[in-house]
Amino acid sequence: MTATSSDLSTEATLNLALLGHGKMGSAVARLAPERGFEVRLILTIESNPDGVAITEKNFHGIDVCIDFTTPDVVVDNIRRVAALGVNLVVGTTGWNNRFEEVREIIRLSGVGMVYAANFSIGVQLFYRLARAAAEIFAPYSMYEPYIVEAHHKAKKDAPSGTALELRRQVQAHLPSRDISTSSVRAGFFPGMHEFGFDSEADTVLIRHNARSRQGFAEGALFAARWVVGKKGLFGFDQVLEEQR
Ligand SMILES: NC(=O)c1ccc[n+]([C@@H]2O[C@H](COP(=O)([O-])OP(=O)(O)OC[C@H]3O[C@@H](n4cnc5c(N)ncnc54)[C@H](OP(=O)(O)O)[C@@H]3O)[C@@H](O)[C@H]2O)c1
Repeated sequence: MTATSSDLSTEATLNLALLGHGKMGSAVARLAPERGFEVRLILTIESNPDGVAITEKNFHGIDVCIDFTTPDVVVDNIRRVAALGVNLVVGTTGWNNRFEEVREIIRLSGVGMVYAANFSIGVQLFYRLARAAAEIFAPYSMYEPYIVEAHHKAKKDAPSGTALELRRQVQAHLPSRDISTSSVRAGFFPGMHEFGFDSEADTVLIRHNARSRQGFAEGALFAARWVVGKKGLFGFDQVLEEQR
């Protein structure tokens, strides 16, 4: 990587709008000033029912917007923010089934958007490891692949967007194999994902364990600075590839 998050604080201050001020929105708001952002606007379900507060007036002077809301409102938020010509970063999960609709919104509006089911840089590297493991184990059918993920009890979607993306990536190397996938929703896990192979003799396992939400906030802010001035729809993996 040529740029690190600490480099970011030396760059120009960017005016940030936050959609959602729950667990993730709050983590982003806490870290943003250290990373060279001024949080100018925070909208929650109370101040923004049906997206009514996403207006020219409220977004005047906003350089970039980050959305960590809920699957039921996120696509409407994207549509409204894009219509204002403001670039955005979307961390909300659970909208895979509307991906083509979002692609069209971004294409027609001419803004830039970065999305990821997981903004942790460690998870993006974990995907690379998992792809390599899938390739190595593919010829050995006695090893059966599986995914387990665990999140706090308030998380709404299951399997997690990260688990779905992990499965999509490893399935490409294991085309005819069933990848058993299960979700735990209990307690306070900020996010745990395992990819393993089990045989009669042994288990081989790789695991990513988020220690807090700071890693997600860090990645989302990194993407927010990157997307300013860009046009088009980008996965966070593309953003990181560009840094190599
Ligand atoms: N990509 C990643 O790295 C990553 C990491 C962690 C989580 N996530 C995902 O990010 C999303 C948020 O997670 P979370 O843990 O922060 O959830 P959360 O604590 O439940 O927060 C959701 C927030 O969305 C707000 N909201 C709902 N409708 C809204 C609207 N119309 N306009 C503006 N705000 C609205 C809620 O407002 P109120 O406070 O008024 O209810 C709340 O502040 C989930 O989809 C989760 O899966 C992604």
